[in-house]
Amino acid sequence: MGTAQDLQGVARALVAPGKGILAADESTGSIQKRLESVGVESTEETRRAYRDMLLTTKGAGEFISGVILFDETIRQSASDGTSFVKALEAAGIIPGIKVDTGAKPLSKSPKETVTEGLDGLRDRLIEYRKLGAKFAKWRAVIDIAGSELPTRYCLNVNAHALARYAALCQDEGIVPIVEPEVLMDGDHTVDRCFEVTCDTLTTVFNELYDQRVDLEGMLLKPNMVVAGKKSSTQVDHRTVAQMTVSALRRTVPGAVPGVVFLSGGMSDEDASARLNEMNKLGPHPWELSFSYGRALQAPALKAWKGDPANVEAGQRAFYHRAKMNSLARSGKYSDDMEAA
Ligand code: 13P
Repeated sequence: MGTAQDLQGVARALVAPGKGILAADESTGSIQKRLESVGVESTEETRRAYRDMLLTTKGAGEFISGVILFDETIRQSASDGTSFVKALEAAGIIPGIKVDTGAKPLSKSPKETVTEGLDGLRDRLIEYRKLGAKFAKWRAVIDIAGSELPTRYCLNVNAHALARYAALCQDEGIVPIVEPEVLMDGDHTVDRCFEVTCDTLTTVFNELYDQRVDLEGMLLKPNMVVAGKKSSTQVDHRTVAQMTVSALRRTVPGAVPGVVFLSGGMSDEDASARLNEMNKLGPHPWELSFSYGRALQAPALKAWKGDPANVEAGQRAFYHRAKMNSLARSGKYSDDMEAA
C-alpha cells in the first residue's frame, strides 16, 4: 500500500507541466451512445477496438499524464496482446479507474441524483490496485433547475459520498479524483452557475476535511462556470475563465495540487480556449489542467467510425486535441493552431 508521499507524487505527476488526463471511462450505456452516433454497434470487441485506437496513439504521453478506464477496459488488451495497462505504462501514462456505479434517483427528492458505489468499494479498490490502477474517479451530478434545485440535501449527500470514496481510496494507496459536476443543461445564468458551483465546492471540501482526506494526495475535477446551454445570455471565454478562477479561489484550498476540468458538453475548441484563458490569468495556487472525455475524443471518434483503415486518422485527431490542450495548460493555445 502507498504512503502519503506516494499519493502526493502520483497526484502531482497527473498535473505535471504540459500534461492532463484523458477520461475514457464511459460506462457501457454511454459508450454505446457514442459508438452508435458514428454508426458502430457497441460490442465488447468494438469497445475494445475504439479504446485501442485512442490508447495506442504514438507520442500521446507527451501530453497525457493519465487515462481513466472503465471496469471492462482495465481488463482488456491492445491488438498486439499487450494489456492496456501495460501499454499505457510503457508510454509513461498512469492508468486510472472509474469506481462509482452511477447517479441514481435520490430518495425524497426524485428529480435529483445521488451517486452510488460505496458498498464493497474497499475490496474493488484492492482489486483495481492489483490490476495497475494508481488513481480513481467518482462523479457526483448536481443539476440546476430554477431557484429550487439543487437542494442542500442533494449537495450534502453527494459531498458525503465523495469524501467516503476519497478516504477509502487513500487508505488503499489510490489517488482520488473528486468530481462534483454542476451540469450545463438548462437555461440558468452564469451567475447562478457561479453561486451553485461555490456552494457545491464549499460543501465538498467541508466533508473532505471532516473525513480527514489528505488534500495534497487528491485532485479536484469540477465544471467550469458557464451559462446553461439553453440560456440566451452566453458569456465569452475570458468571462468563463475569470468566474471559474474566482469560484475556485473562494473554495479550493491551496493544498490541493491540481484542478482537472471536465468538458461537460462544451465543444472541443471551447474547452481548449477556456482552459487557456484561465492559465493566462495565473499563476494560481493549484495547477489548472484537463480531464476531458468528449472534448478529447469527439474528433477522433468521427474520424475512426469503426473502420480499421481509419485508425491512423483517428489517432491523428486525438493527438491534435491532446496537443492543443497541453498548450492551453500554460496559456500558449490560440485558435489559429486548429487549422494545422
Ligand atoms: P466530459 O469531459 O465528456 O464531460 O467527461 C469527463 C468525465 O469524466 C465525466 O465524468
